[in-house]
Amino acid sequence: MGSPTLIDCDPGTDDALALLLAFGSPELDLRAITVVGGNLGLDRTLPNACAVAGLIAAPPAVHPGADRPLLGAFTPEPRVHGADGLGGVRLSAGPAPRAELAADAIRGHLRASPTPMTVIGLGPATNLALALATEPALAARIGTLILMTGAWGEGNATPAAEFNAFNDPEALAILLAAGAPTVLVGLELTAQALATPARLASLRARGTGQALAAACDIQASVPASARLGGVGAALHDPCAVAYAIRPDLFTTRAARVTVDLGPGPSRGRTVIDRWGRGGGAPVTLAETLDADGFFALLGERLARLP
Ligand code: RIB
Ligand code: CA
Repeated sequence: MGSPTLIDCDPGTDDALALLLAFGSPELDLRAITVVGGNLGLDRTLPNACAVAGLIAAPPAVHPGADRPLLGAFTPEPRVHGADGLGGVRLSAGPAPRAELAADAIRGHLRASPTPMTVIGLGPATNLALALATEPALAARIGTLILMTGAWGEGNATPAAEFNAFNDPEALAILLAAGAPTVLVGLELTAQALATPARLASLRARGTGQALAAACDIQASVPASARLGGVGAALHDPCAVAYAIRPDLFTTRAARVTVDLGPGPSRGRTVIDRWGRGGGAPVTLAETLDADGFFALLGERLARLP
């Protein structure tokens, strides 16, 4: 039996591949998927999560969450994810979402889990922050909080900020202060998981199932990242799920993080101290990735799916 796990996401092309990686990995006992706006509005990210869940026989429940950050509004990114959020790839509708809202579902699962849960955040941290801000003691029920967020250098949403942090910096600050053992999977790490055309071709050749084909079609729709040299797109969210499955593919270091909550051009910047020079919330910072091992894991697990 795998580790009780909950994934919060904003599908989103890379979220879709991250969910499929989780579905194909028995190390994770995926108890629920909670959905937040971000890459697109919740009116797209929620049905997208349901459609991806529908690619497997017995998917976990999907719960609707926040369609706006704690302050302001989300800034969608259709240039990367397409107007529909899955790169135009048409999937069956999948199971209907539950009525229970994400923050309530997160709290319920944390309370009920017999062992501490692995919680993986793949979108703006709004749902997770709402859950923990209203019941802070539940942070002790989280064994590991793995967040795809932040960067110690250049952002991707703005020159200063990574997309998830930029879209709800207050929520990220609440999470970092919650006290759960936190692993940060940021842009410098995910840049090492570059889905080039050659890697995508190799992935597609791993099997003949519908889920693998859908994953490859979705990823093929993502434009190469100019920030990363124009040769491929980073598989951000699958890196966070891969850490939960095979942490040995990563090297890490202790670091401290603060989030810029100001109104200016550095809003949402994660100030990551890797050298013990200042304050901030303690995190385990993922620094390097065995990229070949990561893509081998991704292919092996997606090939298991129907
Ligand atoms: O910066 C990349 C992150 O923002 C990923 O989670 C992507 O899906 C978007 O949510
Ligand atoms: Ca995401």
